[in-house]
Amino acid sequence: MNYTPASSRYETMRYHRCGRSGLKLPAISLGLWHNFGGVDALENGRAMIHRAFDLGITHFDLANNYGPPPGSAEETFGRILRKDLAAHRDELIISSKAGYLMWPGPYGEWGSRKYLVASLDQSLKRLGLDYVDIFYHHRPDPETPLEETMGALDAIVRSGKALYAGISNYPAEPARAAAQLLRQLGTPGLIHQPSYSLFNRWVEDGLLDALADEGLGCIAFSPLAQGLLTDKYLRGIPENSRAGKPHGFLRPEHVTNEKLAQVKQLQSLAETRGQSLAQMALAWVLRHPGMTSALIGASRPSQIEDAVKALKNLAWRPDELQQIETILKG
Ligand SMILES: NC(=O)c1ccc[n+]([C@@H]2O[C@H](COP(=O)([O-])OP(=O)(O)OC[C@H]3O[C@@H](n4cnc5c(N)ncnc54)[C@H](OP(=O)(O)O)[C@@H]3O)[C@@H](O)[C@H]2O)c1
Repeated sequence: MNYTPASSRYETMRYHRCGRSGLKLPAISLGLWHNFGGVDALENGRAMIHRAFDLGITHFDLANNYGPPPGSAEETFGRILRKDLAAHRDELIISSKAGYLMWPGPYGEWGSRKYLVASLDQSLKRLGLDYVDIFYHHRPDPETPLEETMGALDAIVRSGKALYAGISNYPAEPARAAAQLLRQLGTPGLIHQPSYSLFNRWVEDGLLDALADEGLGCIAFSPLAQGLLTDKYLRGIPENSRAGKPHGFLRPEHVTNEKLAQVKQLQSLAETRGQSLAQMALAWVLRHPGMTSALIGASRPSQIEDAVKALKNLAWRPDELQQIETILKG
């Protein structure tokens, strides 16, 4: 089957400027952490990438370790790119990261220059690309000097192997320090990638202010709390869900009665807004002016369609926001 992207692909998506950079990202981006590994069906992954691009999702997020096995999501995406999207490379923002364990020994994780440079070279081979658009340091390293890690990101951008530098999972103060170092080096940081959802609000405690001050964009990962913020777990744990699969990062013990009680109330509120719970959860993350994009995952094309429909109602009344606070406190 040959793929021709929909000619309507730029008609409904919104694109937000990323911090104080020249780059715009789609309000909804697609991550390949789950469901694009060597253990997953290639044709389903391919159908999801096609559907996403047809809907104006130009940003696809990867990391060295996505799979399983680690590295296989980059291989899958590389295959799909070559087969279907080679002519559209300049319409795409492809990111990868290094920080978590990728190979044995002292150079296979964390934040040394040795690890970051080698890991990106490996990622580019798996992806079949000369460069990625964004390269992230995936998690703070308590031992390596921040100067070395940011120096490595700067060198990587100057080498042409990445166009922009990002950080992920950095708390507010190290994020500020990283942004300042990158600016001094002449490679302003583009973006921070933290977790953020109705069930996980740590970024509200200083990080979003730091990013606004430093001019970095923000892309929120796991905005659906890995699927908890949908109706799928209300009647038990389906076998084909993330919590039902043996290699998913959402484990059955995370699906608690307390969470499900909140999910039910949130779902009732979503109905009054004319949205699915997933759509409301995305609209809630995107309510911040500094939120560049919500980075979703998906296991089938219909979930991507559902997510993009969130953009039909991004408006919030104060009483709706107050209701959410009450539900989350309950
Ligand atoms: N920087 C980091 O450290 C880091 C860490 C984690 C993730 N990320 C990035 O963020 C991306 C997204 O993370 P995530 O996959 O956890 O995001 P998420 O959007 O919170 O969860 C996605 C999962 O929710 C379920 N889902 C999605 N839409 C649905 C719908 N409409 N109805 C019912 N269920 C739905 C699907 O799971 P089922 O399989 O159950 O259908 C899907 O795989 C990753 O791919 C990765 O790129 C980054």
